[in-house]
Amino acid sequence: MPERGRFRLDGKVALITGGASGIGAATARAFVEQGGSVAIGDLNADAAAGLAAELGERAAAVALDVTDAASAGAAVAFATGRFGRLDTLVNCAGIGFVGTIEETPAAEWAKLFAVNVTGTYLCCAAAIPAMLGQDPAGGSIVNIGSVAGLVAVARRFAYCATKGAVVALTRSIALDYARTGLRCNVICPGTIYSPFVEGYLDRFHKDNKEETIAGLHARQPVGRMGTPEEVAGLAVYLASDDAVFMTGSVVTIDGG
Ligand SMILES: NC(=O)c1ccc[n+]([C@@H]2O[C@H](COP(=O)([O-])OP(=O)(O)OC[C@H]3O[C@@H](n4cnc5c(N)ncnc54)[C@H](O)[C@@H]3O)[C@@H](O)[C@H]2O)c1
Repeated sequence: MPERGRFRLDGKVALITGGASGIGAATARAFVEQGGSVAIGDLNADAAAGLAAELGERAAAVALDVTDAASAGAAVAFATGRFGRLDTLVNCAGIGFVGTIEETPAAEWAKLFAVNVTGTYLCCAAAIPAMLGQDPAGGSIVNIGSVAGLVAVARRFAYCATKGAVVALTRSIALDYARTGLRCNVICPGTIYSPFVEGYLDRFHKDNKEETIAGLHARQPVGRMGTPEEVAGLAVYLASDDAVFMTGSVVTIDGG
C-alpha cells in the first residue's frame, strides 16, 4: 500500500484542463478533498477563478486555450511555479458535435480535432518534460476519452473519431514512457449529466429536451446517466500511487 494512504493525493499537484465545468470541476474538487493541489485551466477563465476561490489555497485558476501550444506551455509553467511540481495532468477540455459525416461541415470537424485531439497532444507535450525533469521524476496523465472512442454512437461522426484518437495517443504515450515513471491512461465515460449534455440538448434538441433526457438515461444499462463526481473518483484513483501498475489502460465508466 502506498505510504500516503489509499487514494490520497497529499503533496501531489495536478493541472486540470477544462477544469471549470462538469467532469473537470468535479475532478478539481475531488483532488483537493484528497489532499492534492490543482491548477484549474479553462477557456472560461472567470468560471475557473470562481471555482479556485471556492476550493481555497490548494487551488488556482489559469486561463487556458488547449488548442494553443504557448497557452498549454504557460499553464504547465503556472502550475509548477505556483505549487512546485506537476504530478498529474487531467485532459478534460472537450467539445462535441452531432451529425453523420454528411451533416458535419469541415469546420466543425477541424474544431473538434483542434480541442479534443490537438489540445490533448499539446498539453501532454508541455507537461511531459516538466514531469520527467522533476525529482522524483514521473507523473500520471489522465485523458478523458469517451465510450464514443470505442463503439459507434449514432450521428457522432467527428466526436467518435476524435475520441478514438485520444485512446490511440494514450496508448502510444504509455508505451513510450513506460519505464520512466510516467503513466498515461484514458477514462472513457458513457453519458454523464453535465453542462456538456445541457449544451448538446440546447443546441440539438431544443424542441424535445425532456424526451431526449429520458432517452439518455434509458440507453445506459443501469438506467441513468452518470455524474461528474463518479468520473472524478476514477480520476483520483488513476492519479494516486495506488494505480502505479496502470498505464496504457482504457477504462470505461458507463453504467454497463
Ligand atoms: N458529459 C458527457 O456525457 C461525456 C461523456 C464522455 C466523455 N466526455 C468528455 O469529458 C470531457 C469533459 O466533459 P464535460 O461533460 O465535463 O463538459 P463541460 O462542457 O461541462 O466542460 C468542458 C470544459 O472544457 C472547456 N473548454 C472547451 N474548449 C476549451 C479549450 N479550447 N481550452 C480550454 N478549455 C476548454 C469549457 O470551457 C468547459 O469548462 C470532454 O472531453 C468530453 O468529451 C463527456
